[in-house]
Amino acid sequence: MKFAVLSGLILACLVGVNNAEANANDLASFHKDKGDGCKTCHQTPGKVADDSENYINTQCKSCHGDYAALKNPKLKIDPHDSHLGDINCTSCHKGHEQSKVYCNECHSFDLKIPFNDAKKKEAWDAKWDQQKIQQAIAKGPVESTDVVIIGAGSAGYNAAIAAKQAGAKVILVEKAPFSGGNSMLAAGGMNAVGTPQQKAHHVEDKVEWFVEDTMKGGRYANDPKLVEILAEQSAAGVKWLESLGVNMDDLKRSGGARVDRTHRPADGRSAGPTIIQALRKAADKYGVETRLNSRAEKLVVNDDHQIVGVVVHGKHSGYYMLSAKSVVLTTGGYGYNKEMIAYYRPTFKGMTSSNNITATGDGINMAKEIGASMTDIDWIQAHPTIGVDSRILISETVRGVGAIMVNAKGQRFISELATRDRASDAILKQPGKFAWLVFDNQLYKKAKMVRGYDHLGMLKTADTIDGLAKLTGMDSKLLASTIGDYNQYQKTGDDKAFHRQDMPLNVTQPPYYAVKVAPGIHHTMGGVAIDTKAEVLDLQSWPIKGLYAAGEVTGGVHGYNRLGGNAIADTVVFGKIAGENAAANALKK
Ligand code: FUM
Repeated sequence: MKFAVLSGLILACLVGVNNAEANANDLASFHKDKGDGCKTCHQTPGKVADDSENYINTQCKSCHGDYAALKNPKLKIDPHDSHLGDINCTSCHKGHEQSKVYCNECHSFDLKIPFNDAKKKEAWDAKWDQQKIQQAIAKGPVESTDVVIIGAGSAGYNAAIAAKQAGAKVILVEKAPFSGGNSMLAAGGMNAVGTPQQKAHHVEDKVEWFVEDTMKGGRYANDPKLVEILAEQSAAGVKWLESLGVNMDDLKRSGGARVDRTHRPADGRSAGPTIIQALRKAADKYGVETRLNSRAEKLVVNDDHQIVGVVVHGKHSGYYMLSAKSVVLTTGGYGYNKEMIAYYRPTFKGMTSSNNITATGDGINMAKEIGASMTDIDWIQAHPTIGVDSRILISETVRGVGAIMVNAKGQRFISELATRDRASDAILKQPGKFAWLVFDNQLYKKAKMVRGYDHLGMLKTADTIDGLAKLTGMDSKLLASTIGDYNQYQKTGDDKAFHRQDMPLNVTQPPYYAVKVAPGIHHTMGGVAIDTKAEVLDLQSWPIKGLYAAGEVTGGVHGYNRLGGNAIADTVVFGKIAGENAAANALKK
């Protein structure tokens, strides 16, 4: 391919303008018109690509360069440098169909790429083809492995790496063209007790406190045995992540925790993308076979109700059955399945969601079909601070580091560190059902993620409190008096208004910032019932032989309300347990 044409196309991609030369309807025709035949992208012209499109992606990069090369410092928002990290080119750039910008699913800006069909939405929760599923089962397995893991988020990767390290042959299937799931969007961090990090920060903590805080946050509906494991194995979980290349040296406090126990990357980056990028690399290093664009649609059991395999729908290879001795469900929750939300929680119908578009409850539905028991399936968490007019989560870290939360008039109305259910309820009782997070330049400098929100145009900024009030429509006098009172409480360490326990910063140093937030669906607490070995239980509470689950697809760990920082902890601790036990089951003589 000629360099001039290539650079024109790259530029078109980067500046978001369709290349004037590009009269073709799709990327493949565009390449062809420029003299680049099928061989540019396909290993064997005429043959379908592998489902992950690995070869095509390697070809894209060999011509266009990798993400670092594509980064354009002139662009305000460059999707190649987003929190998705090093994902596949073909996630967005399609050869024989209209391209699609995944960023537009969550962000309010409208990024454009060549050959884009902006209206196209992925039908992740479309009805599955039952006839083809049955045909694949009737045909029998085309391949066999020890362990199949369904869903490549944090739980899936942790399970896959653990199973692989235990000696099993592992296939990890992911329906999306990129891995990461909801974990990739996790901003906060991982709760853990008794770590060297807590020691270094002089934080006194105990396993019992972690358990009590989690049970209290979950309104004591949690399964205490699962919570004990979560707390007891949390420090080992942080160590395990470190062994896979993740730095978790920063510490902060999340809502409902009595001490700082949320471990975060020391460079201030969001925890989720940092963890997922490291897990992607580790999975490759340990030889986990990851298949993207591969949606599991059916769990197959034998007459003894024992798992024998999975039917997978590959983007290019179609429906096929994989035989496996163990299957691990790590498909995440149903926070982006509008029908399930409306069914389980009618009052949340139509509410915005912070979730990845892939969080459609597939694992829950597949497990239900084979008689798995569900725990707390109707408990859905609204996160109090989703950016209004976007689906971007404004992390609890912002409040943890010191922001205050005020209503449309400029008054505080609850402790900023209240648990999410209470904070969300309180916001919904305020005028307009929204709130503002207000902070100053000290916090802007300290919490790196805030710069990301600024970059996305979500922050209002002013040099004075009065200016900020004018920009946001708050009452200037009320806002000034709220901030004055808060600064006084911060100085004495006694929040006389709402008993906030931890007030690391005052609000005194201009410029001042505000971001408008409202509650949105964030986490589905319920899901398949598991025991302490992460085995999925049937309706009589017996393990379904060979079926394991971890992460948001399960219920029981979080009770009715999850604490911030416990999702990643859940995916790491129970992902690893599920992977180890799935491998042990598969390898037993
Ligand atoms: O607000 C947050 O950073 C979210 C964290 C979590 O859901 O654990």
